[in-house]
Amino acid sequence: MADSARIEIEKLKSKIRYHERLYYVENNPEISDAEFDQLMGCLRELEEQNPKLKTDDSPTQRVGETVVDDLLAVEHNPSSPMLSLSNTYNIDDLEKFDERVKKIIGVNSFDYTAEPKIDGLGVSLVYKNNKFMSGATRGDGKRGDNISANLKTIRSVPLYVDSKEQFGRFEVRGEVFMRRKTFEEVNKQRKREGKPQFANARNCAAGSVRHLDPKITHDRNLDIMIYSLIVTDKDASLIQSQKAQSHSQAMSLLKAMGFKVPDVRAGLDLTGVLDVVKEYESKRSDLEYEIDGLVIKVDNYNYQQKLGATSKFPRWAIAFKYPAKQATTMVVDIKVQVGRTGALTPVADLQPILIAGSTVSRATLHNEDEIARKDIRIGDTVFIEKGGDVIPKIVSVILSKRTGVEKRFRMPSHCPYCGSTVFRIKGEAVSRCCGLACPAQINERVRHFVSRHAMDIENVGPALIDQLHGRKLISDPADIYHLTKEQLADLDRMAEVSALNVINSIEKSKHRPLERLVYSLGIRHIGVRGAQLLASVFLSMDNLINANHKDIENIHELGPSTAESVTQFFSQHDNLDMIEKLRSAKVNMFSDIGNAGVSLVGKHFVITGTLKNMTRNNAKNRVESQGGRVTSVVTQKTDYLVVGDNPGSKLRIAEKIGTVQLDEDTFLAMLGDV
Ligand code: IVH
Repeated sequence: MADSARIEIEKLKSKIRYHERLYYVENNPEISDAEFDQLMGCLRELEEQNPKLKTDDSPTQRVGETVVDDLLAVEHNPSSPMLSLSNTYNIDDLEKFDERVKKIIGVNSFDYTAEPKIDGLGVSLVYKNNKFMSGATRGDGKRGDNISANLKTIRSVPLYVDSKEQFGRFEVRGEVFMRRKTFEEVNKQRKREGKPQFANARNCAAGSVRHLDPKITHDRNLDIMIYSLIVTDKDASLIQSQKAQSHSQAMSLLKAMGFKVPDVRAGLDLTGVLDVVKEYESKRSDLEYEIDGLVIKVDNYNYQQKLGATSKFPRWAIAFKYPAKQATTMVVDIKVQVGRTGALTPVADLQPILIAGSTVSRATLHNEDEIARKDIRIGDTVFIEKGGDVIPKIVSVILSKRTGVEKRFRMPSHCPYCGSTVFRIKGEAVSRCCGLACPAQINERVRHFVSRHAMDIENVGPALIDQLHGRKLISDPADIYHLTKEQLADLDRMAEVSALNVINSIEKSKHRPLERLVYSLGIRHIGVRGAQLLASVFLSMDNLINANHKDIENIHELGPSTAESVTQFFSQHDNLDMIEKLRSAKVNMFSDIGNAGVSLVGKHFVITGTLKNMTRNNAKNRVESQGGRVTSVVTQKTDYLVVGDNPGSKLRIAEKIGTVQLDEDTFLAMLGDV
């Protein structure tokens, strides 16, 4: 009975190992999860019935029950400490590395390998007679922590190397990491449980693989890539002498043995290496896991031996690092900025730090609630991250660096710029300064008014605005139009010529169309698109001022809150006074859409054939800027077909459906060009 059970158990173990490898290492499963679970269930039951046949390397034994108080220290192989890698961030250094290598080995033609540098935690795993024996963290390179129980929970770690060959003792080293998706799930779960967030996948992986409870490690769904084979024992010479005389051969061998290895590119010269550097730089963010660079290695083991190592780094390898997107720095202060609507935004002053190629010294903190949620205090050491956008954000506080002298941030009760009361509407996250004459608000409003998408007044930058306001020459954007050349010439760093340039730019801006003026007013919720819609529907400033809530709300794409803020804006005397000031300076208050008297808002256009006066793209932009849409297929929904020279099949379809056709002149008239 025991013999047949033994055979049955061995068969099942081997089958499960095979499917674990397909699923977790090769990402190419042959059976469903349910079928896999069934195999595991059978094995578990047989092992329960025959406890003596339950071995440590059984797939059922991945998750141990034992929670430990501390991790035990272990020595790494003294003849092969776990070294680090020297880093380079540029091609010049890589060329220097290449020259050094050539000089030491005395050979000019040899191969490099290049592979991703996985951003995780370096570990070592020892195998004996094909069985996983123990594993450790890198630690200081000489001694690490025993994390055998945790490494066993990683399903891509083979507990037994299924092979006809006996491999004796050997060690592999690799990087434990967490896939981005898993990291997000872990953080989401922690948020639900009110636990602090991990700053990045690397920290999360590091915390998980060193956890004292292997069950938690198991739940964290870690993964591993093996990047080197260490063979110092004569038992293992089989691997070394017969199969692997180079890093790339060792990686192929390890792959065949069932280890998960990175994408190792072999047979490269320096140019080939640079191609791989470029390739990974662009696909880096699409990978399922984080990499922080590439590792370039001299492939041949004999050359590696000849090159040797310093006390810290091997001379046969180098890391080409991509610019870090994360960094650690200190919050020196938290100040508040006042925006044009009076919103107070806390901003962290940071100890300047180089991140992803530029120096960062500030990070926005959004609002009080955000600061409270992340518990950011003045004096804290924090993780900052530069994401897709330019403004960096604080990801989390490194609580272990707190000394107790850090100060909590309090939103000021009075505006630091004008002293007016700061209020926060119930249910809103934003605090606002209620001072109508607040200098910070005025400056921001004027900056917005002159900006590129608004009235686009060249030569009027932040420094000039500060001066004008400081000298009480402007108190709202409309005052810009009442400045004289003499007043401007009298300012610091302003000669007569530059004063004239400013006056000319201001003059030019008076003719901008209504939509720009509407946008430049800085009405809450009204961006470029909203302003275009309002101008195309109401056609003049007076119509817009008199529009009621319903008229605005009914515009496709706008909603009740926009309608509310527009009507609210035009109900304020100050705002109406400012518009009168603009009118008296002869600033254009009309839309240039209105000439043909047709509104394009919500109308669907299709263009066919070649237009004489503009490109199709241009026409599309013009239609869209007046609230219309341009599509490429004629359907029942199409309002107008614009017919140019040599029209295509769209004309036939339009004729069939009965779509209104416009020749180019009529179309131009509709756009307001004639
Ligand atoms: S080779 C002698 N290859 O990077 C060092 N390391 O900054 C041999 N790492 O400690 C290391 N991916 O933990 C190597 N493909 C890779 C790697 C890699 C990540 C880690 C490793 C090492 C650290 C050095």
